[in-house]
Amino acid sequence: MAKGKMCVTGGGGYLGSWVLKLLLSNDYAVHATVRLPGDAKYAHLNQLEKASDNLKLFKADLLDYDSLCSAIEGCTGVFHVACPVPSTTVPNPQVEMIEPAVKGTLNVLKACLEANVKRVVVVSSASAVSWNPRWPKGQIKDEACWSDKEYCTTTKNWYFFSKTEAESEAFEFAKRTGLDVVTVCPTLVLGPLPQPSVNASSLVLIKLLKEGYDALENKHRSIVDVRDVAQALHLVYEKPEAEGRYICTAHSIMARDLVDKLRSIFPNYNYPKSSFIKVGEEDMLSSEKLQKLGWSYRPLEETLVDSVESYRKAGILD
Ligand SMILES: NC(=O)c1ccc[n+]([C@@H]2O[C@H](COP(=O)([O-])OP(=O)(O)OC[C@H]3O[C@@H](n4cnc5c(N)ncnc54)[C@H](OP(=O)(O)O)[C@@H]3O)[C@@H](O)[C@H]2O)c1
Repeated sequence: MAKGKMCVTGGGGYLGSWVLKLLLSNDYAVHATVRLPGDAKYAHLNQLEKASDNLKLFKADLLDYDSLCSAIEGCTGVFHVACPVPSTTVPNPQVEMIEPAVKGTLNVLKACLEANVKRVVVVSSASAVSWNPRWPKGQIKDEACWSDKEYCTTTKNWYFFSKTEAESEAFEFAKRTGLDVVTVCPTLVLGPLPQPSVNASSLVLIKLLKEGYDALENKHRSIVDVRDVAQALHLVYEKPEAEGRYICTAHSIMARDLVDKLRSIFPNYNYPKSSFIKVGEEDMLSSEKLQKLGWSYRPLEETLVDSVESYRKAGILD
């Protein structure tokens, strides 16, 4: 017997697919939105346990309010995961990123209000937290830190801008209407690929394994496993006391140390050569609030091993 109905927007994507898997395994009936039902890129969804009984796909676009209403109707909870996440710069960020992120989020929330949804969990991002030059240097960033929209604009960080604007608009909407909205802000998400295509964050790791860069910026990386992000979303949905935003991050590592770690487990890939260029400062974020709610995460080695195994199986590293 299914527990109740949940809707997941962007259910065919990287994180969305893991959220579907988790909800189905917890006996929820799930409505998932996809843009191209019938496309081979969603074939993996039919293989999920209990999908044949409890998963229904809905064709919906974030900019098409009515399509979202059809998917959300009858659901008690909604996980708003869908958002464009480009892996390179896009020619028209306003149309390709900002509108679907911001207007799309407001369309989802409006549809949730209309359908009397109990709680909406919105997937935001650490990019809505960390891009703030006024935050005191050396101080760990917590949920009080918001990316500065003007700084995002002047530095042309359109993805950061779109996530910051979407998350702040979501809280404004919640304040205005009384809708229960909780957000989760993950850092770089890695872990096994459930879907046949490669998403932007997995590409970061794949490139480290394949590209053989002559030199690489020794950037600071905050990493979290996709399966632990799915757990975080479920947790903030289920815990009545959850409120506001939750940073979701697990491991903090410099690019050079990440490469060393990978090399020690998988010695034979085409790793960056020895030159690592020093850049910027460490960007430290804290998930203490989420951990206090009961969240925990797996070791980084497990994430790396399972990611690489999944790329291998999919033939991505050949
Ligand atoms: N991966 C990370 O490192 C990371 C970190 C922080 C936050 N996030 C957030 O996590 C969420 C999922 O990202 P992901 O990494 O799983 O990326 P992904 O695999 O590219 O998934 C993005 C999803 O958004 C959907 N989508 C995009 N534009 C849409 C539109 N106009 N209408 C309807 N659906 C649309 C896509 O649907 P189709 O299947 O129809 O193309 C896809 O399912 C996003 O909100 C992202 O900002 C990701």
